[in-house]
Amino acid sequence: MVRPDQKGDATSREGDKSRAPKELTPAPGTSVRHVVPVMSGKGGVGKSTVAALLAVRLTMAGWQVGILDADVTGPSIPKLFGIKPSPVVAKGGLVPATSRLGIRVMSLNLLLPREDEPVIWRGPLIAGAVRQFWTDVLWGQLDCLVVDLPPGTGDAPLTVLQSIPVDGVVIVSAPQQLTTMVVSKAIGMARRLGAPILGLVENMSGVRCSRCGELIQVFGPSQARRICGSAGIRLLGVLPLDPELSRLGDRGAIEEYAGGEFLGVVASLLEADQARHQRGGRS
Ligand SMILES: Nc1ncnc2c1ncn2[C@@H]1O[C@H](COP(=O)(O)OP(=O)(O)OP(=O)(O)O)[C@@H](O)[C@H]1O
Ligand SMILES: [Mg+2]
Repeated sequence: MVRPDQKGDATSREGDKSRAPKELTPAPGTSVRHVVPVMSGKGGVGKSTVAALLAVRLTMAGWQVGILDADVTGPSIPKLFGIKPSPVVAKGGLVPATSRLGIRVMSLNLLLPREDEPVIWRGPLIAGAVRQFWTDVLWGQLDCLVVDLPPGTGDAPLTVLQSIPVDGVVIVSAPQQLTTMVVSKAIGMARRLGAPILGLVENMSGVRCSRCGELIQVFGPSQARRICGSAGIRLLGVLPLDPELSRLGDRGAIEEYAGGEFLGVVASLLEADQARHQRGGRS
């Protein structure tokens, strides 16, 4: 097994710069102001849901937004938005699909003949597909490209963090102890690869009783403040378990969900960061 600090490991940028992949150039005519991957070491905590809601909130704030579905083997973004396979190959690249609100979406599922067709690929192919979603998709002018990452700290997250100029990562957690342990690995990965972390969203953080309004902590008490405190990152907000969110996602109508307003703060965080960099004061 290769230790992360061993020379030659893909994550040891500082130790062996010559082997770190170069940032890739996007397709002609593409200009993306901010790239925001949504990650969590853990599966099923709501990364795709949070990525979708983030894209919706930024769109509602007047931004032009795209979603790059980097979960090549388990893509869920088209389903959440009710987008069917619709590959359009134009001169110069692939045209993303467009959601009802105008969010541009690219996912491997849009390129498959059937949405339940399995993709059984090894790491290098997965990494290649993720790279192509950056280099060969005609994203056009975007204020923000949200990247939905698969669980874990494997090929797809590594490719995104190393090959695409990331402005800030949104970490998704849930209250279970097992989840928080794995989420710490994702925070560590982002840090090791030099990707700034915008903050953390705790999802599935209790459920509100529809009769009495009490918050029932189905997965135990919130761990959000503890994780944020020990990692030194901002808490963006918490999302409770909400049957309406799940129902809308299943119907391909996630854009109709009224919650998750706090995700709009990501726009001002990105703008503040950009202003600081322009003044030359990266902190
Ligand atoms: N706050 C919530 N309330 C109710 N259901 C939710 C909530 N968050 C996520 N879900 C549901 O949980 C399931 C898993 O969510 P999602 O696909 O977003 O997780 P994920 O972390 O992206 O999973 P994967 O690791 O497989 O990519 C979905 O059916 C989704 O609708
Ligand atoms: Mg997902």
